[in-house]
Amino acid sequence: MKIAVASGFRPSAGDLTEFLLLRAFHLAVRFLKADCFLVSGVFCGSAEDARFPETVEKSRALRKIAVPFYCVNDPASMFRVPDASSTELEVDGEKMTVAELLERIRVRVGPFPVFSKPPFEFLTVELEGERVFNGKIHRVSLPEEVVGKLTDFHVHTNLAYCSENMTVPGALGMARLTGLKAVNFSEHSGQLYFVAEDYWKFQWTMNGRNRPDGCPERRRMPDYDALFRRYSGERGFTHGFELDVDRNCTVALDDRDRHPGCVNLGAVHSLDRKENLPLLKREFLDRTEALLRYGVSILAHPFRIFRWGCGMRAPEDLFVPVAALLKQYGVAAEINFHCNEPYPEFLEICLREGVKISLGSDSHNLYEVGFFQPHLHLLRELGVYEKLDSVLFHL
Ligand SMILES: [Fe+2]
Repeated sequence: MKIAVASGFRPSAGDLTEFLLLRAFHLAVRFLKADCFLVSGVFCGSAEDARFPETVEKSRALRKIAVPFYCVNDPASMFRVPDASSTELEVDGEKMTVAELLERIRVRVGPFPVFSKPPFEFLTVELEGERVFNGKIHRVSLPEEVVGKLTDFHVHTNLAYCSENMTVPGALGMARLTGLKAVNFSEHSGQLYFVAEDYWKFQWTMNGRNRPDGCPERRRMPDYDALFRRYSGERGFTHGFELDVDRNCTVALDDRDRHPGCVNLGAVHSLDRKENLPLLKREFLDRTEALLRYGVSILAHPFRIFRWGCGMRAPEDLFVPVAALLKQYGVAAEINFHCNEPYPEFLEICLREGVKISLGSDSHNLYEVGFFQPHLHLLRELGVYEKLDSVLFHL
């Protein structure tokens, strides 16, 4: 059984560190395969701040995570969140409380790393009977050697219909806490032209717009422009779009909304020809090339649509032609772990062909901004971690 422990958590109002703890939880559960997450500390400075467990619960429910998250209040805490110290657990066949489990781990591994300041470290250990072994320390800030060097090119805003809690200042704060160089806000262009119901039902991708039977428009572009005017005094960000494309290969961006200097991503979010694999593959290539021809800088979550929209693994015979298109148009391939598993075989081909790699968190929740631990792990496995400067997409 693998246990993750974050100790000494001590947020202060508005410092966003609760989102780093949420990141630690997702890192531990999804990528380190922890079976249980324990956190101890002072969770809030006032009774109103004691809502943190709700944030975690929402995120657990949304991602359908069964792994438990237990909070243990520091005895000195003035304000407390629901305490799990006396909650009973079964650890490798043995019953014990959360407090006893924490103590057992502490006795075996010594003092815990502290999760209250950079680089925000937590511990994982494995338990087998009396044995506590394989203790490892993980950090949620970026590794020292890349601090200040990486840009998260795929961050959503509060205008995304699928935003969980995104805000521009929140994302910029998370970028600073994490050690990013910059972020690029890239809102779904289709969501800025159509109401949520039509967008999610693919009314525009199927029926087009600006004609009698087409999808009606509900322009929110002025809201998007106003958002960045409001934060024009802030540094460390650019903005553009995650461009949608319809079944006729029309890209959802009007000329009047196409501003110079925008960093645009392109994404295939729907496919229609599901009954016929050769036609489906052709459709995917056509929509992809339409985005590249239009002039995007980055292809967002390449091939995700096959898993999401068609319930299948991406056809591997598309990897070479898509990499060739990216090379032809000078567009980067994104590594994206947001509800997505990138295909290392495809990225290997991209690297061989000299196609740049872009890092994108696809943040819909603030905990995700700059959450690049999985991306960096994959780049290590691909053997290019030592030459990130030359393989990564930069502005
Ligand atoms: Fe997307």
